[in-house]
Amino acid sequence: MAYDLIVIGSGPGGYVCAIKAAQLGMKVAVVEKRSTYGGTCLNVGCIPSKALLHASEMYHHAQHGLDALGVEVASPKLNLEKMMAHKDATVKSNVDGVAFLFKKNKIDGFQGTGKVLGQGKVSVTNDKGEEQVLEAKNVVIATGSDVAGIPGVEVEFDEKVIISSTGGLELEKVPASMVVVGGGVIGLELGSVWARLGAKVTVVEFLDTILGGMDGEVAKQLHRMLTKQGIDIKLGAKVTAVSKPGSGAKVTFEPVKGGESTTIDADVVLIATGRKPCTEGLGLAKAGVVMDARGRVEIDHHFQTSVAGVYAIGDVVRGPMLAHKAEDEGVAVAEIIAGQAGHVNYDVIPGVVYTQPEVASIGKTEEELKAAGVAYKVGKFPFTANGRARAMLQTDGFVKILADKETDRVLGGHIVGFGAGEMIHEIAVLMEFGGSSEDLGRTCHGHPTMSEAVKEAALATFFKPIHM
Ligand code: NAI
Repeated sequence: MAYDLIVIGSGPGGYVCAIKAAQLGMKVAVVEKRSTYGGTCLNVGCIPSKALLHASEMYHHAQHGLDALGVEVASPKLNLEKMMAHKDATVKSNVDGVAFLFKKNKIDGFQGTGKVLGQGKVSVTNDKGEEQVLEAKNVVIATGSDVAGIPGVEVEFDEKVIISSTGGLELEKVPASMVVVGGGVIGLELGSVWARLGAKVTVVEFLDTILGGMDGEVAKQLHRMLTKQGIDIKLGAKVTAVSKPGSGAKVTFEPVKGGESTTIDADVVLIATGRKPCTEGLGLAKAGVVMDARGRVEIDHHFQTSVAGVYAIGDVVRGPMLAHKAEDEGVAVAEIIAGQAGHVNYDVIPGVVYTQPEVASIGKTEEELKAAGVAYKVGKFPFTANGRARAMLQTDGFVKILADKETDRVLGGHIVGFGAGEMIHEIAVLMEFGGSSEDLGRTCHGHPTMSEAVKEAALATFFKPIHM
């Protein structure tokens, strides 16, 4: 049978694309090499890490946060096995959910490795080496990304001592010491998990800031908070070697500016220095699919590759490697294939870092506006002046709004604080509609909520906040 669409890969990009296409009336097949749907995000990424982030935060809170609220508990005990079981159950319910949605939308699943044979043909090779060829009018490549390793440094992942994010979700006991290479999103999130559970965590970061690319003020504030939580962060330090001489590991780094190198020992080393697109074994070169200089699949404005009827979305193409960006691209490409006007607004894609406090960002950073020579105004409001935050003892952090100086149109929003990842979305909706800081500041917000700090920051942007 010929399909209307074959999607290769069932991560957030692929599975959302498949469901949307089926909803639009297409006959859809999905090829997935894992035994479960959901890709990195659901199986070994966003979802399991959030289960561990939440559970470890509860443990940490029970140890350090409850007493001040007048809740006295006996010394809390960690049951890591049970915490991991919670994580595994969370993954299972999510991947089962995707399987259910596929069934509901009459999507055919093929377990195996997909290969593009050219326009309209995809081969699937299963674990037993059996190959079959599927036919479709359209093909979407949504194969995601994989751990990149450290550029120029040989690293042998054993996922026990030298680990990637996958191993970081599976440790059987809390290591006494952990070195995290890379102070980006994965390093800080997983570093936080194991620090809260008792590991002495050292983060070694090449840049002179953590979370490079995020708003500088926000990154600095998070740096302070993580340091307070006992995480040792070394900036401007380039890791040059990672070895496993005995039972533990050694990490060597040198100042980026030049100077003596340092070697530290650790029970576990987490490598979190970025991800690379998964394009190997897909037969892309042979099929005539052109790649860009950074090894990503090149696409046009309609997500179409150099081969007609072959599209690509998500981590395998340009843009931020984020699950929600892939999801939106999945919807857009399904709409385009169905003859509709699919579109993704790349200017309004939130970024959330699930540390404690959380960091959330949308639109331009202050550094980007400065570099582009845009005349802007800034409004800020600290959670120390927010009643709900005081009541919950969650006063760390602030909201920052950036708006065009002339038009007052909001160009960016940045939040560091408890629940930042939820609060960012009102700024996202406002920006999607081209709203101003005055629009946001004049929108009635429920009281008492943390979100009132967003309103106050908007008031501060166009005039003055009330509660400061
Ligand atoms: P990243 O790109 O966020 O951070 C990697 C860091 O490693 C950079 O700060 C870089 O300067 C540093 N680095 C590179 N080489 C180094 C060296 N030799 N020595 C010291 N530091 C070095 O990559 P990460 O954290 O691995 O995440 C991969 C992707 O997954 C990212 O695109 C990220 O956005 C995405 N992701 C998103 C999450 C979220 O949205 N909450 C959660 C997890 C991952």
